[in-house]
Amino acid sequence: MDLRALESRFQTLETPFYYYDLDVLHETLAAVKGAIADAPYMHVHYAIKANSNPKLLEIIANNGLGADCVSGGEISAALSAGFPASKVVFAGVGKNDKEILNGLTSEIACFNVESLPELMRINELAATIGKTARVAFRINPNVDAGTHAKITTGLNENKFGISLDDTIDAVKHARQLPNIELCGLHFHIGSQILNFVVFENLCKRVNDLQDTLEKAGVFVKSINMGGGLGIDYQNPKDHPIPPFTEYFGIFKKHLCLRPEQELHFELGRSVVGQWKFDCSYFVCKTGENEKIRDSGCWVYRPYSSCNVWCPSLYRKLNSFIG
Ligand SMILES: Cc1ncc(COP(=O)(O)O)c(C=O)c1O
Repeated sequence: MDLRALESRFQTLETPFYYYDLDVLHETLAAVKGAIADAPYMHVHYAIKANSNPKLLEIIANNGLGADCVSGGEISAALSAGFPASKVVFAGVGKNDKEILNGLTSEIACFNVESLPELMRINELAATIGKTARVAFRINPNVDAGTHAKITTGLNENKFGISLDDTIDAVKHARQLPNIELCGLHFHIGSQILNFVVFENLCKRVNDLQDTLEKAGVFVKSINMGGGLGIDYQNPKDHPIPPFTEYFGIFKKHLCLRPEQELHFELGRSVVGQWKFDCSYFVCKTGENEKIRDSGCWVYRPYSSCNVWCPSLYRKLNSFIG
């Protein structure tokens, strides 16, 4: 999309505002659906943390995707937007009691569980209201995502998930809990992944784990490979739609699923990252004698850090159209 061409429409609008190109969203959703049309066992959940605007959620829900939530608020937003509870998964390391109970009473599809204490708490809470919680264990596969350190989540040193070595014990434990139904294994190794060899490596690790579990007599109904597909920040106009066919193709080719097993994904950035633009006017630009750095100059915009936090937190580049 050419933002310059839209400039005259923007002239009368008060800044800052976000501009959403819904044509790109619709094309993106069509590409996601097209890429898995031949694989009815594949299911995509939209990771709501990427953008929780209610109108956008409605569009995504209407296109048949599920929702991946990391808080009670996101679960409520998903259900209000029309995502069926049967397509809602609940991840995150810090689920509180209220959120867990909310997930249980809403009959969501699955809790992605990060630790044994969390599993036991869910079991206790489910018992108090006579429910059984469907859970998937988030396993830390120790696979390097080759992405930015602060969005790398699948290495042993990262805080996320149960380690590979502890998986069998965790499964045995889950089987003893009366209000837990273990349905799946969940993995998410990081975000903005552009090197697809990484996903192949993840598939191999999951295959090995499934072999080990099989020998121990363990079968799970679903495998969730998380999100992570990156987008082209350098040339968004040339590549407005991420390469979903290639991405899903990696899993079709390299992941050895068991008969009847479902395969789930939780894509965030790649579904919404390419069609949202923040529009603001610069308040001022520093002069030559001020904070000029080798790479350019400081610009000030009427935003708080919660609006534009990527550059400051991750030392990432933002592109500006002057
Ligand atoms: C557990 C989990 N699933 C899915 C996602 C979505 O990842 P992405 O936006 O890279 O597709 C994230 C992102 O942080 C996550 O933590």
